Formats: sequence, structure tokens, C-alpha cells
Amino acid sequence: MSSEPEIVEYPRRDEALRDGIAEDDNPIPLWFNVGFYGFIVVGVVYILFYTLSGWSARGEYEMEVAAAGVRAEAARANQPTANPYRGDEVAVAEGAETFRTICSACHKPDGTGLVGPSLVDPYWKYGNADETLYESVFSGRPAGMPGWGTQLGGDKIWKALAFVETLPKSDVPGVGAPDYAPPTTGP
Ligand code: HEC
Repeated sequence: MSSEPEIVEYPRRDEALRDGIAEDDNPIPLWFNVGFYGFIVVGVVYILFYTLSGWSARGEYEMEVAAAGVRAEAARANQPTANPYRGDEVAVAEGAETFRTICSACHKPDGTGLVGPSLVDPYWKYGNADETLYESVFSGRPAGMPGWGTQLGGDKIWKALAFVETLPKSDVPGVGAPDYAPPTTGP
């Protein structure tokens, strides 16, 4: 029978090495405490700001959308409603270039239509008022006409449309997407 206690209390300052590591009772380093309490303070300030200032990501988004709406409205207000380049030879030549590089892929170089409808026949799905044509090209149309507004800008669109007007007209409906009411075949 031994009277020795089962658990040996080591002195606090332990010089003994275990796996090469000396365990010591050092104070927590200052940088750690600064970080620890600092982040708590930042967190509390952030929560107070977030809940009390009325700021919200949605609110900021809605303000940006409203501001963009105002800018778009202003741009529209400055937009001519009649083609400013009608009959302007230099502008028509520029428009021809735009039409050849972009539009002709779907409307054919002579405008008679391929994937897109003919632009030289008397038929129009959306109308051929200057403003309507501009809208067709600027914003696009649902059945496969991409919007070119951001890529070309208003000026190039008007010029391309001024060029389209100079193309020889045709009475034949285009072979592409129908922009006319096809004759209804009876049963
Ligand atoms: C990717 C093919 C494609 C390209 C490129 C394209 N279009 Fe179109 N376009 C279409 C299609 C398809 C339609 C029919 C859309 C519909 O019916 O909703 C159309 C419709 C139109 C219309 C309306 C026609 C109508 O009957 O009301 C106009 C005007 C027009 N395009 C002009 C242009 C101009 C100008 C360009 C060049 C800047 C252009 N398109 C480039 C495919 C194209």
C-alpha cells in the first residue's frame, strides 16, 4: 500500500519539455486581445449601423434603378422622332457600312430578308414610322431581332435606317420571318 497521491500536481511554471514543447503560463499577447475585443466592437457598431441607419442593399439598388430611369428618360427626350439623316449622303454611306456588317446577315445585303423579314417590301409587322423603326432596332423585337441600342448607339441606328430607305423597293414579301399577314388557306 502506497500513500502517494494518484495525481501529481506539477508546479505552474513547467520547465519540462513534452514533444519538444515547453508549456508556460504566459499572458495573452496584446495583439490578440486588440483583435479579439476590436472585432467585437466592430461587430456591435456594424449591427447598430445596419439596423438603425436605414441603409439597405435593396434600397441602394432601387435608388440606382431610379437614377438610371431618369437618365434613360432624359436620353429618350433628346432622341429625334424623325430620322435626322434622311437623304444625307455621307450618313447614308456610313449607314450602308453598318447595314453590311451587321444587319445583312439576317436581312440580306439588299434588304429582302433571310432570317429576318424583308425591309424593302410594303409590309411591316411593327410599323415603319421613323420612331417605330428606331425602336425595332434599338430595343429589338421578340421573334429574333436583337436590340442594337447599346452596341451601336442612336446615331448609327438612324444612319443604318436612312440607308435602308435607299434600297430598291420590292412588292414581294420577304422570305424570312413574316412581317405580313400570310394569305389564309381555306380547309
Ligand atoms: C440575328 C438576326 C438579325 C440581325 C443581325 C438583325 N435583325 Fe432585324 N430582325 C430580325 C428578325 C428575326 C426580325 C423579326 C422580329 C419579329 O418579328 O418580332 C427582325 C425585324 C426587324 C425590323 C422590324 C420589321 C417589321 O416588319 O416591323 C427592322 C426595322 C429590322 N429588323 C432592322 C434591322 C437592322 C437595321 C439591323 C441592323 C442594325 C437588323 N435588323 C439586324 C433579325 C435580325
